[in-house]
Amino acid sequence: MSEKYKICGNAEVRIDDQVFTLPVFEGSEGERAIDIRKLRSETGLITLDSGYMNTGSCTSNITFLDGEKSVLHYRGYSIEDLADQCSFVEVAYLLIHSKLPTNVELDGFKRQLNDHSILHEDMIHFFDRFPPAASPMSILSSMVNSLHNFYPEMDDPLETLNITAARLLSKVRTIAAFSYKKSNGYPLVYPRFNLSYCANFLNMMFDSPVRPYLINDVVVDALNKLLILHGDHEQNCSTATVRMVGSARVNVYASISAGINALWGPLHGGANQAVMEMLEEIHQDGGNYRKFIEKAKDPDDPFRLVGFGHRVYKSHDPRCRIIKKACDDVLKSLQMEDDPLLAIAKELEEVALSDEYFIERRLYPNVDFYSGIIYRAIGIPTNMFTVMFALGRLPGWIAHWEEMWKSPDARISRPRQIYTGPLLRKFVPIEERE
Ligand code: CMC
Repeated sequence: MSEKYKICGNAEVRIDDQVFTLPVFEGSEGERAIDIRKLRSETGLITLDSGYMNTGSCTSNITFLDGEKSVLHYRGYSIEDLADQCSFVEVAYLLIHSKLPTNVELDGFKRQLNDHSILHEDMIHFFDRFPPAASPMSILSSMVNSLHNFYPEMDDPLETLNITAARLLSKVRTIAAFSYKKSNGYPLVYPRFNLSYCANFLNMMFDSPVRPYLINDVVVDALNKLLILHGDHEQNCSTATVRMVGSARVNVYASISAGINALWGPLHGGANQAVMEMLEEIHQDGGNYRKFIEKAKDPDDPFRLVGFGHRVYKSHDPRCRIIKKACDDVLKSLQMEDDPLLAIAKELEEVALSDEYFIERRLYPNVDFYSGIIYRAIGIPTNMFTVMFALGRLPGWIAHWEEMWKSPDARISRPRQIYTGPLLRKFVPIEERE
């Protein structure tokens, strides 16, 4: 075992009348795991854990989260400190390079982001070939996948990963803004070297020849916070996908393109769009949010209160608290405090948090509950909310891909299964089949 964790004890497993001993490992924050890798060779058994409810797929030194205590750290720094004191670019550097940058390092990183912000002109024609109603997430995953053709990596992708990371961070921002302009038929606005990462994105989205975009610092600050809070979240569905696809030694662009597709789902990153659609629906329905809470509680109704619940947080999602405050700040700055959707969201939250159903199941508002209200106030269209999540999650995906690629213990991801199908049957030629 070459990873940096220590054996802290043993676990005994009794199978029929035999007892097997398995090592127990401990991570740096004291979390413990039974190492079952030799279980099969020693006992012939596998473990079964559909949906990976309690399976560690790797060790990682990127993010620590304790869902019982509402704790989230990136590389040892609390999410509260990072969201309060850093820009997204600093946090992206931290996730990718394992340390907070000095001023000189940060300047160099910003220069790299500027240098790689332009898209190859041939890629811009791609946008013309998608149907007008194409989902921005499908456009994004296709374009990220094809970046590999335009910017091939070296044989050893780690040699060029710094440049690849800057390319991804910078070009995905450009792709997102261009896809918005193209979907509206507006002229493209190219990236500018003298704007910060977030201001540049907003400018590419909303500047126009007839109405120059005025950069609002409160909006830029909120966008920085949102992207920071989405930066990484350990082995979530999309990150686990990036690692799994990458474990087949596929390139980082293809791995991240797969992660974007996983993020698209409404149970994962797609929830931010679904929350907005739900709030709109409640609003159209006369603001009767209690009806929606009853629907969510009804076991015969598949409806769920989107933006509530989390696989690992069984207490408040620490990201949600920060976003809720940023939401108040942005709406105040834009004089939109009376947004009826914000009022509905706050009432929903209050009622759900005091309802037995939600208390018993420990369902709290998650990162996606308030983020959409900010995006909407800024002017981001609802169908691009999950693209914003992807932009924020990029540094985490890149860091995990690299960690997986470098790990001496990395193997191709290949879960096992318990077969429940028919036993061996006699083959029947087609003409004799009934
Ligand atoms: N509304 C109503 N009931 C819920 C909800 C909800 N949002 N979430 C979970 N439950 C109930 C669920 O019906 C089950 O009840 P019972 O025990 O009676 O069968 C219980 O709570 C446990 O739920 P689960 O589906 O076993 O939990 P999970 O860990 O598999 O799913 C989840 C986690 C996030 C997919 C789920 O809570 C959910 O669907 N939430 C709504 C979608 C959402 O907001 N997703 C964003 C998650 S945060 C950002 C991200 O990961 O990208």
